[in-house]
Amino acid sequence: MLIRPIEPADHETLWSVMEETIRAGETYAAPMQMSRDDGVRWWTEGKESVLVAEIGGQVVGTYYLKPNQLGNGSHVANAGYLVAPFARGQGVAKRLCEHSLSEARHRGYLAMQFNFVVETNETAVRLWQRLGFQIVATVPRAFRHPTRGLVGAHVMWQSLEAD
Ligand SMILES: CC(C)(COP(=O)(O)OP(=O)(O)OC[C@H]1O[C@@H](n2cnc3c(N)ncnc32)[C@H](O)[C@@H]1OP(=O)(O)O)[C@@H](O)C(=O)NCCC(=O)NCCS
Repeated sequence: MLIRPIEPADHETLWSVMEETIRAGETYAAPMQMSRDDGVRWWTEGKESVLVAEIGGQVVGTYYLKPNQLGNGSHVANAGYLVAPFARGQGVAKRLCEHSLSEARHRGYLAMQFNFVVETNETAVRLWQRLGFQIVATVPRAFRHPTRGLVGAHVMWQSLEAD
């Protein structure tokens, strides 16, 4: 699997990787009916870096990395991950997250924080926990899940400082 920076030529493929997840509305708080252009902008704009994962020349997943806050909060990184439905369950997100943690350390971030991990997204919650994140808070009823109603969203965090 190759993890590389996104290029403008990847935008069409990026949307095909993202679309089903956005339309399902179960994991990200993004408008379920958003257009391709809005979706690509939502994922790529204002990010420090956006990368894609390729298997056999095909883009199967993506992540972005950015400071979680500006100014005096900019030592904490934030990232988002998305894997195409057909490529799930093969360790792509695990590899992307490991890559982002190493990249964040390399860039001098002292911690990584996820602000909104929907509590019903059990695959993600378990994976992030296995990769060192802890749930530091849960915002009650923060997400309107399309089939499960109002559910909580976890703030997940891990230190990147050496012990
Ligand atoms: C969450 C997500 C990124 C996981 O991607 P992925 O590439 O399938 O994850 P991995 O293959 O690295 O799997 C992580 C673990 O979950 C397991 N897993 C993945 N999909 C699974 C499934 N559908 N059913 C059961 N287990 C599953 C894997 O076996 C793996 O466990 P293991 O390490 O013990 O083998 C992906 O499902 C996704 O893009 N979801 C929509 C967007 C999203 O939720 N992003 C994260 C927001 S916080």
